[in-house]
Amino acid sequence: MKLAIIGAGNVGGTLGMAWVQKAGHEIFFGVRDPSSDKTKAALSKISGKARAGTPAEAAAFGEMIVLTTPWPQTEAAIRAMGDLSGKILLDATNPLAMGPDGLGLEIGHTTSAGEKVQGWAKGASVFKTLNTTGFGNMADPIFHGVKSVMFVAGDDAANKPKVIELVAALGFDVVDAGPLRNARLLEAHAMLWIELALKRGLGRDWAFARVKR
Ligand SMILES: NC(=O)c1ccc[n+]([C@@H]2O[C@H](COP(=O)([O-])OP(=O)(O)OC[C@H]3O[C@@H](n4cnc5c(N)ncnc54)[C@H](OP(=O)(O)O)[C@@H]3O)[C@@H](O)[C@H]2O)c1
Repeated sequence: MKLAIIGAGNVGGTLGMAWVQKAGHEIFFGVRDPSSDKTKAALSKISGKARAGTPAEAAAFGEMIVLTTPWPQTEAAIRAMGDLSGKILLDATNPLAMGPDGLGLEIGHTTSAGEKVQGWAKGASVFKTLNTTGFGNMADPIFHGVKSVMFVAGDDAANKPKVIELVAALGFDVVDAGPLRNARLLEAHAMLWIELALKRGLGRDWAFARVKR
């Protein structure tokens, strides 16, 4: 499949490499500067099946688009893609900002990054996913044979199975988390992972998994 990844940093670069290696997808990174060191580093880890250009070129190429930009740059990145009518957009961003207690969520409870992204990406089908674990786990989501969990929230029931399949190809146990407004829950869940990983001593090499009776 042809995939556009907007951003080629920790998350974008890791996802691009993993989808090429695990599923044979073709990647087009949409970035501000296709010749930057960060973009070159992402491309150098993927042999052959990846290239980089502008966000608009990437969006035109991709059957699905994966958004991996820092929150403050996300609206500009979406606008730079142009008309997104009919496109499937996976939103991996978290609306992080520094507050009085350190790093936290800039918005939540009454809206979410996922819903803001839907407002900016008019006519696209937005799915919130790939935001609740560290980028290292996106390359290797299986721990001692147990798949870590990844959620997908979105309103477009017809296209949700395709999105679930794409995320599952990385090795995650994928759970349908309901409508896009549940991005409010997933972004808070991401903040819990960040809090535990970065402030409470768990580090980055762990993930949430689902157990069931
Ligand atoms: N890091 C994690 O473990 C993790 C996990 C889950 C979710 N997330 C979320 O994923 C997002 C990306 O995190 P990251 O750690 O991958 O950040 P990162 O390493 O800083 O990478 C961000 C990428 O976005 C690009 N970018 C910035 N502005 C852009 C624009 N206007 N148009 C196109 N590309 C643009 C950057 O390119 P430049 O060289 O131009 O800056 C860079 O390639 C954030 O919202 C974060 O909260 C992160």
